[in-house]
Amino acid sequence: MVFPLSFLIVASLAAVYAQPPHASDPCAAIAGQKWVAPKDLRACFTSVKVNPAIKENIVQVINKTLAFHTSVNYQLRAPAPFTADVHEDLLGDLARIERQSYRSDYDLHIDFSRTLKRLNDGHCVWINSCYASLFTNYLPTPLALLTDSHGFQSVHISPEAFSVASAEFPDQIDVWQNALPGPLKGKLATLSGAKVLLINGQDPFVAVNANAQIAGSYQALGTRQNGFFSSYQRVAAGWNYVMGNFAQQSLPLSDSVVLTIQRINSTRPETVVLPYRARIGAATVAFTDTASWRANNCVAVAGTNGVDLYATSTSSSSSGSLTPLSKFQQQPPVSPQVARKQPLNVILDTAPPSDVILPPVLQPSLPAINGSRGVSQFYMLNDGKTGVMALGSFSDTNFNALLLGMLNGLVSLKSLGATQLIVDVSNNGGGFICAAHWLHRIIAGPKSTTVPKSGLDTKARNGPLAQLITKQITQANADPQNQLLYNPINWANASDVFFAPGTDWLQPPVLTTINGRADAFSQRLGEECAASDFPVAPPPEALFDPKKVVIVSNGRCASSCSLFSITMNKKEGSKTVVLGGKRDVQQQYCGIVGGQSTDFSTMDTEIKSTKLKSNALAPPDLLVNGVQGITWRLAFGVNDPTEPEEWQSRPADLNLPITADIVNNPVAIWETVAKKLLP
Ligand SMILES: *[C@@H]1O[C@H](CO)[C@@H](O)[C@H](O)[C@H]1NC(C)=O
Ligand SMILES: *[C@@H]1O[C@H](CO)[C@@H](O)[C@H](O)[C@H]1NC(C)=O
Ligand SMILES: *[C@@H]1O[C@H](CO)[C@@H](O)[C@H](O)[C@H]1NC(C)=O
Ligand SMILES: *[C@@H]1O[C@H](CO)[C@@H](O)[C@H](O)[C@H]1NC(C)=O
Repeated sequence: MVFPLSFLIVASLAAVYAQPPHASDPCAAIAGQKWVAPKDLRACFTSVKVNPAIKENIVQVINKTLAFHTSVNYQLRAPAPFTADVHEDLLGDLARIERQSYRSDYDLHIDFSRTLKRLNDGHCVWINSCYASLFTNYLPTPLALLTDSHGFQSVHISPEAFSVASAEFPDQIDVWQNALPGPLKGKLATLSGAKVLLINGQDPFVAVNANAQIAGSYQALGTRQNGFFSSYQRVAAGWNYVMGNFAQQSLPLSDSVVLTIQRINSTRPETVVLPYRARIGAATVAFTDTASWRANNCVAVAGTNGVDLYATSTSSSSSGSLTPLSKFQQQPPVSPQVARKQPLNVILDTAPPSDVILPPVLQPSLPAINGSRGVSQFYMLNDGKTGVMALGSFSDTNFNALLLGMLNGLVSLKSLGATQLIVDVSNNGGGFICAAHWLHRIIAGPKSTTVPKSGLDTKARNGPLAQLITKQITQANADPQNQLLYNPINWANASDVFFAPGTDWLQPPVLTTINGRADAFSQRLGEECAASDFPVAPPPEALFDPKKVVIVSNGRCASSCSLFSITMNKKEGSKTVVLGGKRDVQQQYCGIVGGQSTDFSTMDTEIKSTKLKSNALAPPDLLVNGVQGITWRLAFGVNDPTEPEEWQSRPADLNLPITADIVNNPVAIWETVAKKLLP
């Protein structure tokens, strides 16, 4: 029996970590517990030293995967208005990390993670399940940025905070009740809605902005600020609550918070100290000590690396439910098989999608209209003319059913008398690219902006290894079953004509200088969603006047959601609303556009299937339980079609002030939007 190198390294690591089972093992101290103190979790995390071979393996996997990421050189210095937000020398920083020493493997992990997060690009993220969301660090007091009757904005504990926390943390709420001082002890419920005067002795926006510096995900400062606060999202199973980065951390960063608050109907400031508590992740594999934590959660698993789709003994190892990648994609899980048929553009986050429930009193009580299905729900407002489509994702377990539901729902709204439409895409992290194009096409009808294409042109990065993969496919018939991304038959040229089999679509490369660095891209690509991809022919007329369509979100609309929102706003004149947001900060109605997102394991499958794994440019197999996302195709802009849309401005038409009576209440928000923007 021949063991792969990775097995041998892991086996020897296990030997290194194996310590006599005595009480001083800081990971044994937290083993088997559902809730732990973040300090104790950090003691476990920081007890493991850096293994130089593993460190070099991660550096090489990330660095060589970045050769396929479209944006490396753009992200050295983004154009206005994002210059202050995006300025990261990724290759320089990886070289620095390679040289630098770290007190622990956890400190090294934080440097990798934050270095990638500084791109403020949720497509290009490093996530290691050894640490990220192994436990989730919670407070029972999610926050909201509220506007009062005089128009002043201030940070509050969300009015629904206690209702959320007591339902989600029934087995921990007493710890927080008992942590409250003096007469407040046991009265956590009375903190809901309180104005937050200070966080850790400082103006609350000091904490908001400190988080915005490390949160990543979105280019715009306003969008990263909004991620600190609570919000809602339609998911496949119902309505969920997003705690926000103040009340939920994917690493044990904070032990406690000191809040100076003014409770409702009180004039007196009061100071409370609340501990963070870390709850074990749903996907964390049980462990008993350091060795079993590492063996069960920190080493590569099925799906971490790619597979040779044409190997004689095909191991369908990653055909199971949740792959390491899909765990962190902000959409309902989509299998690699479906993703190969339906290209995705979806944001990654170091926290898996939330499964905290939106309190029932805040959930829409309007009846769901025909066509409603999973992430996509339709409602008729009581004004008798405004239809609502709540769309929490562009993905679904069934592509055709999602598209048919969209059509059925919009047609049903019309039959009920809707003449105008609100599309709520709060926290919509993207999904199927062709679902975004379909929705635009069926709303706006056939016209120059939707036929033959409603999407944006794109380009792929054109490095030496991408060229070799394409040559293997086009000249050596390396992809006879048409399963690979680089197969020309998947893509159309800038005239929207699909490439014939055998066309080397990466030749000649388009040489481009970006921020002073030489780069190379594919030719401009046109619409890749073919009419035959759609389950039925789209209707011959517009379903709604696009100018009577309002797209609503907290700005956290990414990837395919951005493709939809941008084309509807910039090409069709649909209006856009951002819920809340700091008034003096420009609110962008969506962020990270990408074009098509993918990851290391998918690139590794391209490399292995075309027999190029031994090439010096190929990343090695990853040894740890990690995911590296990338932008594989980058969309061109609408206002400036010669440059990527990614760093062009997308100002919202309305920055809707959120008051205590509508916060996190979707129907109340839709009614307010309808009155203000669709009178
Ligand atoms: C990363 O890759 C680049 C080529 O794209 C190479 O020049 C650089 O040395 C690599 N960095 C590390 C740390 O290996
Ligand atoms: C605050 O005072 C108003 C007016 O007396 C009352 O209606 C409301 O219930 C009070 N709210 C709380 C949370 O005590
Ligand atoms: C919804 O579907 C039912 C059953 O097919 C049908 O009777 C009803 O008319 C539909 N309602 C609308 C608004 O389309
Ligand atoms: C796309 O391909 C068609 C068919 O080969 C060709 O006529 C057209 O010129 C091509 N367009 C571009 C922009 O290359």
